[in-house]
This record gives sequence, C-alpha cells and structure tokens, in this order.
Amino acid sequence: MSLAPPADLPPAPASQAGPARTGAPMPHIVAVTSGKGGVGKTFVAANLAAALARGGRRVLVLDADLGLANLDVVLNLFPKITLHDVFTGKHSLAEAILPAPGGFSVLLAGSGMVEYSRMTAEVREQLQALVAEVSPKFDHVLLDTGAGISDVVLYTVSLAAEVLVVATPEPTSLTDAYATIKVLATTQGRRRVHLLVNQVRKPGEARTVRAQLQQVVDRYVNPALEPGSGAVRLELVGEVPVDPAVREAVLRRQLLLEAMPGTAAAMAIVNAAARMPS
Ligand SMILES: Nc1ncnc2c1ncn2[C@@H]1O[C@H](COP(=O)(O)OP(=O)(O)OP(=O)(O)O)[C@@H](O)[C@H]1O
Ligand SMILES: [Mg+2]
Repeated sequence: MSLAPPADLPPAPASQAGPARTGAPMPHIVAVTSGKGGVGKTFVAANLAAALARGGRRVLVLDADLGLANLDVVLNLFPKITLHDVFTGKHSLAEAILPAPGGFSVLLAGSGMVEYSRMTAEVREQLQALVAEVSPKFDHVLLDTGAGISDVVLYTVSLAAEVLVVATPEPTSLTDAYATIKVLATTQGRRRVHLLVNQVRKPGEARTVRAQLQQVVDRYVNPALEPGSGAVRLELVGEVPVDPAVREAVLRRQLLLEAMPGTAAAMAIVNAAARMPS
C-alpha cells in the first residue's frame, strides 16, 4: 500500500504526555479516538455502549470531546447539566450522569465551550479526578475523544488504560491513524492499541488494514522504541461496513442498535462489542 509515514512528530512535552496521575487508570476505561476526524468515533462509542449494556454491563460514555461535544446530538438528549457544571461546582457528578436511550449512562459536555479547547492544569486535574471518581461504578467507561493529536485529545486518552483507534480504509485516515499510534507509543508508552475499522467496503478489509498499519508500525515505530520496552501491537476489535442505515440513524438522532438492529452495521457493532477490552 502507499501509506507514507508522516514526517517525524515531535514528542509531546512531559506536561502533555499524560500520566501525571496517582495510580494507573482502571482497565475498563477505554478511550475511543482517531487520527482523522469524522471517521465514526461517536457513532461507534454510543452503539458499542448500547451493545455492552444489552449484555448486562454497566456502561458509561463520557463525551470527552470537550470543546466540540456532540454525543448529545447523536443521542437526542438535551442535557441541562453538563461536565461544565460539575467543573464549576454548580452541580454534583451524580446529577450530571444521565441515562441514555441504549440503557447506558452518559456524561455530556456542552458544546462551544472555548475554555476547553486548551487543557489547562485545572481542567486536567478536574477531568482526571472525575474519571477516577466515576469509573468504579461502571463495568465499562468509554471516553469519546476528539480527533487528532492535540494536547486535549492526548490528555484524555492518557486517562484510559486501553485505547481503541477508529479508522476507515481511506489513505488519509490510515496515515492519521498511524500518526496517532506513533504518538501514543512514544509519549504514553502504549504497546497495545485496539483497532476498529469503520466504513469497510468488503468483508475482511479490516484485516488487511490492520496488517498494513502493523507493517508500517513495525518498520518505523517499533525499531525506534526504547530497547526492551516491547513492541506496539495492533489488535483488531472489528470492522463495520459502510451502511446507509448509519447516516439514517444519525439523522433521526437514534442509536442504530435501537432503530435498525438487523442492519449489517448494527450486527458488526454487536460483534465488536464482544471483543472489547475490559
Ligand atoms: N459505518 C458507517 N456507514 C455509513 N456512514 C457512517 C458510518 N460510520 C459513520 N458514518 C457517517 O459519518 C458521520 C460521522 O460520524 P461520527 O460523528 O461518529 O464521527 P466522529 O469520528 O465522532 O467525528 P468527530 O471527529 O467530528 O468527533 C456519521 O454521522 C455518519 O453519517
Ligand atoms: Mg465525535
């Protein structure tokens, strides 16, 4: 394939690299992230949550795309209380945890909050404390992050024990997924990265995508890692076909799993949920 590695990315300063925390994040906290935007993170996070909840698990999705939140739009929720209210002390965390249509819980972030487009030390601490407080109450906590490798995204990912990168088979998405994986390996010491390939056009395409990405990682990332620190492995969680039902569900502001559970994309999400790290 013609997946050219992007120019070397500078390592994030220590302050961006994350784990300025006490204690490691709990294993069931998974950051859903991507390189390129608009690849389906929010759709995947919400519907995976519904699939996991259906299996009897207690699931929370946290809208960690703080400045440009839109999980509420996808779920047709009109939150009166958001993360912002928790951060400013106006409401308690318990008040901000809302039930979502798919039988899971959500913590929503109001959109357009310019103060969250940068990660100040205060917001970092608040977000970390919030995740630490809320996570023991759930079997799965999914952090629906923004796209890219900004310090906001990298910091939210650093709060999760596991990371699920969503990518599509498009070359631009793959190149950006590669950049994300590289940064996570070098600045956060990630060695295991879960991959969900969305919008595949033929069955089995995700396996090819995983192999291509792994090949580039083996060639350009793994040899540069600290000797003895292990190699980055990509683990395929699943593939979701491109399916007009997804767009239709988003337009209707419904979960695909609820609105059209028999569609190919819905069934693929259910399969992927069974392979989620926990
Ligand atoms: N499997 C699919 N088949 C068809 N369309 C899809 C599929 N997955 C996602 N889409 C389309 O892509 C749109 C964007 O998805 P979504 O908002 O989940 O992306 P995102 O990665 O969260 O974006 P952002 O980076 O802005 O947070 C959806 O509204 C839907 O129309
Ligand atoms: Mg999103």
